[in-house]
Amino acid sequence: MIQVAIMGHGTVGSGVYAVFEMNAREISRAVGQPVEVKYVLDLRDFSSLPYADKFITDFSVIENDPEVTVVAEVMGGVGAAYEFTKRCLKAGKSVCTSNKELVATHGEELLALAKAHNVNYLFEASVGGGIPVIRPMMQCLAANRIDEICGILNGTTNYILSEMIHKGVSFEDALKQAQALGYAENDPTADIEGHDACRKICILSDLAFGDKIDPNEVSCQGISKITLKDVALADELGYVIKLIGRAKRAENGKIYAFVAPHLVAKSSPLAAVEEVFNGIMVTGNAVGEVMFYGQGAGKLATASAVVADMMDAIAHADKRRPVEWGDGSEKLLLPLDALESAWYVPGEAPEAIVDRKIDGAVITKPMTANALHEAVGEAAGAMRVL
Ligand code: HSE
Repeated sequence: MIQVAIMGHGTVGSGVYAVFEMNAREISRAVGQPVEVKYVLDLRDFSSLPYADKFITDFSVIENDPEVTVVAEVMGGVGAAYEFTKRCLKAGKSVCTSNKELVATHGEELLALAKAHNVNYLFEASVGGGIPVIRPMMQCLAANRIDEICGILNGTTNYILSEMIHKGVSFEDALKQAQALGYAENDPTADIEGHDACRKICILSDLAFGDKIDPNEVSCQGISKITLKDVALADELGYVIKLIGRAKRAENGKIYAFVAPHLVAKSSPLAAVEEVFNGIMVTGNAVGEVMFYGQGAGKLATASAVVADMMDAIAHADKRRPVEWGDGSEKLLLPLDALESAWYVPGEAPEAIVDRKIDGAVITKPMTANALHEAVGEAAGAMRVL
């Protein structure tokens, strides 16, 4: 019998417990013995639950219990989650997390700590919810130089945009629905303003390019200024609006990384990624383009990735998964201004930069952000075209 603990009983934490219950037989068969959740750490009152006896409020119970070898950190944030993760790793326990903020902010330090204590720090659920993307990048694409990552990385904003595009639902109403469905962060600003997608593109970049890309240095724009009028103009031009996280290797080995709403051609596979689903395209110099697709948020989908990591940590108790990246000293990030693209500009633009035009909007020729601003001034509402 293997004993594990769950830190946090919110949407994902309760999902982790549910997956262990629901799929006990499959999990036991894959691991080779039963896995029991010994503790659930949460300060709130869950005394009405059938597994109320599992709940504890004192972290040191987990820390000091040698029977607990693998811990799920599904608390979120970088306060107690950071502290408890470090203490678990130092106590020789593997930690598996969905906490993208913590991985994006302190991943390099926690991975180094895991290495020093010969345990695993695994974070499949931190990007793309239930979609396998971290492990495939670490293993199946390991023989490639990664040249570009481009994707829809936030389920909440994709849900909101899908509702706006297909049902004409207002931004505010679509957000309320996404919250009710358990997709949004506690403070949905992180979703709407792109910070959540930014953390995820940083984690994928850390893995792909080997050095920390700091989310605070990455240009990040959300969807709060997108209007139903933009949606209608984009549609007339043959596009849908998607919030895209991108990281692209430049010829000199440096990286452009950013999050911004884009116009995506209706013929692109990313345009077909609807509702809470995420789609992540990765370009490797040997494999070419591959795409990962699935539910990017939600209780059981995200929990499935956390539990699979816990099973992997159990299987690799004696031989940890080698994963690490640098502390950011390579300074890989390039200023975004130099990255050329075509642009959607609501309103008018000088003929010299226009590629296509309809009543109310323009698609420009490929150009840098600086050149666009010189041509049309502030260009409020302009979006890159993918
Ligand atoms: N709020 C996040 C999203 C949850 O909507 O994608 C999954 O990371």
